[in-house]
Amino acid sequence: MAGSDSARGEGIERPGAQQWIPETLTKSSLSAGVQACRGCELYRDATHGVPGQGRLDASVMVVGEQPGDQEDRQGKPFVGPAGKLLVRALEDADIDARLVFRTNAVKHFRWDPGRAGKRIHKGPSRVHVAACTPWLLAELDLVRPEGVLLLGATAGAAVFGSSFRVGASRGRALDWPADGVRSSWTPSWAVATAHPSAVLRSRQREQDYAALVADLEVVAGLVSAR
Ligand code: URA
Ligand code: SF4
Repeated sequence: MAGSDSARGEGIERPGAQQWIPETLTKSSLSAGVQACRGCELYRDATHGVPGQGRLDASVMVVGEQPGDQEDRQGKPFVGPAGKLLVRALEDADIDARLVFRTNAVKHFRWDPGRAGKRIHKGPSRVHVAACTPWLLAELDLVRPEGVLLLGATAGAAVFGSSFRVGASRGRALDWPADGVRSSWTPSWAVATAHPSAVLRSRQREQDYAALVADLEVVAGLVSAR
């Protein structure tokens, strides 16, 4: 997450997503609400708002950072390279990828213009995560997952607050925080791990992939231990 938001954010309206949260939550009201949301400025440069996707009876909710280029174009989470790696890692950990609900801490793609029309991923700042958190809470309410898998620092901070460090906490069952995000549904556990994009960028990719799968095996154990 980048700093200096107050300086850059001057004059930017960020009322937060709360007023766009539908009274009756369904997959379609959630999806329509995310499209309509003006809770922060990120909708302006994005093609689609990207709500969570998956089965409403999912035991596990996976939370990433924000949609990437492909996700923004298609309006669906985890359909690009990081998503493909995630699916492979879930399957390697014996988790049926079709049975997890996937979403992101932030629902619109934040990017910088690059050369030749390329859009360069720019992670959301704390203010965007804060603005967007009502959607994550609404999704928790809708899906009521047994546990939550947090991918990377942004997802970790969305739930546990900005002092959360993935490296120090990854790969074990954490209690849902009493002093972090306030959700009306309380999952039984959260597990943090690295973001699949970080694995894709890593110079020690095989090692980092193996560590990701090992963390997902912890999730598999928690789910089957029900
Ligand atoms: N990275 C994420 O964090 N989420 C996506 O949906 C895709 C890539
Ligand atoms: Fe709303 Fe979140 Fe999109 Fe901001 S990023 S406009 S809060 S859905």
